[in-house]
Order: sequence, then C-alpha cells, then structure tokens
Amino acid sequence: MYAKLTKAIIPVAGLGTRFLPATKAIPKEMLTVVDKPLIQYIIHEAAEAGITDIIFVTHSSKGAIENHFDSHYELEAKLIEGGKLDRLATMKAITPPNVNFVSVRQPEALGLGHAILCAAHIIAPNEPFAVLLPDVLMHHPRKGCLAQMAEYYETVHTSVIALEQVPMDQVNKYGIAGVSEVDLRVHQLVEKPKPEEAPSNLSVVGRYIFTPRLMELLKTTKAGVGGEIQLTDAMATLLNEEVMFGFEFKDGKSYDCGDKLGFLRANIEYALRDPNLGAAFNDYLASLELKPLKKKKE
Ligand code: G1P
Repeated sequence: MYAKLTKAIIPVAGLGTRFLPATKAIPKEMLTVVDKPLIQYIIHEAAEAGITDIIFVTHSSKGAIENHFDSHYELEAKLIEGGKLDRLATMKAITPPNVNFVSVRQPEALGLGHAILCAAHIIAPNEPFAVLLPDVLMHHPRKGCLAQMAEYYETVHTSVIALEQVPMDQVNKYGIAGVSEVDLRVHQLVEKPKPEEAPSNLSVVGRYIFTPRLMELLKTTKAGVGGEIQLTDAMATLLNEEVMFGFEFKDGKSYDCGDKLGFLRANIEYALRDPNLGAAFNDYLASLELKPLKKKKE
C-alpha cells in the first residue's frame, strides 16, 4: 500500500522564452491573471487536493516565486500600522494554511522528465506524488481538477492523468493518450506526435498523480523528442508495468497560459468571474461595441 498523497512537484525552472519580453526579468509563473500570479492559483489547487508539501524545481532567476509565498515582515508591519487590514488579509491568503515549500534546482534544461527527476530524493520509495504544470490554469466552478483527481486516485490507487480533447491539428503540441473508451485506461502515450501518428486527440493537460515507480523509470529514460528527457516517455514505459487511468475534467475549463492567446483568454474569463470586478468588466466589454475584425491577408 502506498503512503498518503501529500507531495506535489511543480517544475518552474523553464525560462519562458515564449513570453518574451514580459519574462526577461519576471518568472513566467509570476505573470498575473487578474490580480494573482499564475503560481498562486496552482498552489491553491494543490492545497485543495490535500497537498501539504510543495516541491519547486527551480532556477537561479526564479527567486520571486519563493518570495511570493514567504512572509514579508516590513510590508505586513506597514499595513498593520496604516490599519489596512483588508490588504493584510489578502497577503495572508497567498499561502494556504498547512502548506510547506521546498526548492530544488534543475541545473540544466534537459526536459520536463529531467525536472521531475531533480526532486527524486524528496519522494520516498512508497510515496505517490502529484505533478502540476504551472502554465496550465484549470478552472472549475466547484472543485479543482487535482482535488477531483485525488478523489479518483483514492478509489484506484494507481497513476491518474488529466486528459482533454484538442483539435487534431494541435496534437503535435502535447502528450497524446490512447485510452479504452470504457474506463479511460491508458494504453498508449506519445509526446507531440504528428496528427497521422496520434493515437487519439486526447491531450495530457498538465495535472498528474503518479505512483512512485514513475520516478524510478525516469532515472533510466533517455532523451526523446526535441533531445529532451520526456516525462511522457517514462509514463509510456510505466504502462508496461502498471495500470494508469485518464481523468476527464468535466464541467471545467483549462487555459494554456504559456501561450499568449491562452493567457489573454484566462485574464478575460477570470475577470468576468471575479465577484468584485465581473459586472463592471462585463459592462465595459459590452460598451466596446466590438465589430468583427477583418482577417489579415495571408
Ligand atoms: C508538456 C508535456 C506534454 C503536455 C503539456 C501540457 O509539454 O511534455 O506532454 O501535454 O506539457 O501543457 P510542454 O508544454 O512543456 O511543451
């Protein structure tokens, strides 16, 4: 029997070149959706799933992430002195109660699989662990994606990965899963396949719960697509040894915030859902009388 699921690995070492110039001096995980950095949404999603130990796999240029979840005595003292208790409460709410952080460095950008492997010494041999990719925001009106997956994990006690349909011409951007229609048992995984080689249009979204065996397999996983050590390749090997289930995130919506368009969509939709800003922002958008824009000539 595995230990309780309490640890999550969050790879944040990537330099965010897709988002330059914004990410030259600011970690991409610190870009804000409405009024919170992306990473804050991710940490709260993990905490909702019962995660108490967050492991950042990070880089020397990403100190702002750890600072965001640390206390800031000077700022707190100023807010108390000025009687700005609502702002103090906002600051205190950044880090969920009972969540601890540790950081490990990824010394070289050798791929997502390699990033996860950098945390291997923190995961005990009998411990399952979650992985959350911080580029992907998962909105659900009632219960976060990882919390739903953790509940499902409690019934199956084997690896569970979030899956989502994407258009067939987009499959080359993602890990793609072949699954059984009955129970979403995964039987094939391919990283960024050509459409003609894809087993389906079900993409791996960026939320995973793994048995500890995955970490062992990563140790011997060779570089794959793009010359990088791919998480998907280790997962594909795991399929030869253990059962893995796909998890369909129903009634929710994902936003790929590593992509400029996805990031803009997230900002607009999260602002519209915001209890304080939503109504006014909706009125503002309506007032724009947006006309359909002409497409640029190719
Ligand atoms: C990574 C994974 C891929 C997954 C994707 C989800 O790719 O390698 O399997 O589908 O995240 O966002 P990346 O976006 O780092 O290229």
